[in-house]
Amino acid sequence: MEFKETMLSRKSCREFTDQAVEAEKLEKVITAASMAPLGMPKAGKPHLTVVINKDMLKTLGGLAGPERGDIIYGAPVLIIVSCPVTAPGLAEMNAACVVEMMSLAATDLGLGNIYLYGVTAALQHNDALKAELGIPENCIPLSALALGYGTEHVTVCKSFTKTLTENRID
Ligand SMILES: Cc1cc2nc3c(=O)[nH]c(=O)nc-3n(C[C@H](O)[C@H](O)[C@H](O)COP(=O)(O)O)c2cc1C
Repeated sequence: MEFKETMLSRKSCREFTDQAVEAEKLEKVITAASMAPLGMPKAGKPHLTVVINKDMLKTLGGLAGPERGDIIYGAPVLIIVSCPVTAPGLAEMNAACVVEMMSLAATDLGLGNIYLYGVTAALQHNDALKAELGIPENCIPLSALALGYGTEHVTVCKSFTKTLTENRID
């Protein structure tokens, strides 16, 4: 896709098919994460946890309790971004940059995706699960990207996006 088309195509996907994400596509999304700008990278870089195990996805999706339903929307892949705490706010900003890069890359590859905070908020207080996921002790899970093949129709040129950017993208 042209970058402009990718940008205008990105939207949150909350319904996924059972189709698995190809390893090559996953690799490209992870490469995009590594290209994100980072504040104070020498003080510690983000850690990515790529979850594809169905049991673990189910556990993570249920972390907010049965009344909230599946908080990762049945996605076949969840990439958790955990960051070391360095300067105030910096870890969150770094995580956001990483997730956004991955989101645009996933969109470009035709993958439905959604930026998720809720699942990492629930995970933050679960030390046993963090250890099971291999999240380093000095890192806090801050944001995640759920991805897969979406069932939703992607609307190109959302009016909101056009309004914000109409003087800058043509
Ligand atoms: C920082 C951040 C955290 C988010 N966390 C969640 C979340 O936990 N659950 C969810 O369903 N959507 C989450 N979203 C997705 C937003 O709801 C969505 O981006 C917003 O409604 C705009 O819709 P769009 O992405 O389709 O443009 C999050 C988005 C951002 C940027």
